[in-house]
Amino acid sequence: MLKKIIIGNWKMNPPTYAGTQKIISGILPLVSRVKNKIEVVICPPFPWLTDFSHKLNKKVSFGAQDVFYEPAGPYTGEVSVDMLKSSGVKFVIVGHSERRALGETDEIVSKKVHACLKSSLIPIICVGERERDSGHTYLDLIKHQLKSALARVPRASAGKLIVAYEPVWAIGRKAARAATSEECGEMIIFIRKILSDIFGVKSAVRVRILYGGSVEPKNAGAYLTTRANGLLVGHDSLDPKKFGEILKVAQSM
Ligand code: PGA
Repeated sequence: MLKKIIIGNWKMNPPTYAGTQKIISGILPLVSRVKNKIEVVICPPFPWLTDFSHKLNKKVSFGAQDVFYEPAGPYTGEVSVDMLKSSGVKFVIVGHSERRALGETDEIVSKKVHACLKSSLIPIICVGERERDSGHTYLDLIKHQLKSALARVPRASAGKLIVAYEPVWAIGRKAARAATSEECGEMIIFIRKILSDIFGVKSAVRVRILYGGSVEPKNAGAYLTTRANGLLVGHDSLDPKKFGEILKVAQSM
């Protein structure tokens, strides 16, 4: 069975180093209580990430919120896979809808996935529709996002991938609603089917598929009963109490 994974995506928060210390010291004791059963990953912004990942990567896993695909060179402002690796980072969120909204294309997502795998970092590939239409064209969009992100990934690497289904309309404190567990469950089956078409059934079952979008203590359990192998948590991952409740729910399942 695939080990459940709960990932906290802090986005561009908190604004200070002291704030980061406070959240991390709130989360560490919770992680040590659940770590046999659940893998916990926290993804702070770059300035906080590498400092804490150097020091604490034996206690909790760290992930980056983005990476650049070139290995080194004249790319002002970018961060490479080897830099992350050398800082004790294990995971990278790739193709988050908030980055796609800033211009990240399917081609760029594919290059980043490839760069991560080459450097033994685990990409968390985000896919999801902006809205649901009655003609179900959102299914074609998700198929397309997956196929292009995985275009150059060999079957042998399937077990090193994570896919996160994140419907854009469900993301953030201001979202009208989270996805229902039925919507989440159906999409996980759909994604697993596409992965089977790409890699074959035996390899596809090794890919962890997560749900993300307004995950909170009150709905976390429902997603985990719908075949989701874990959760990508945004705003509630900044609150150790709420994040801890989500971890407790995951551990009890
Ligand atoms: P949210 O964000 O939990 O704040 O909706 C999830 C995400 O964007 O990864």
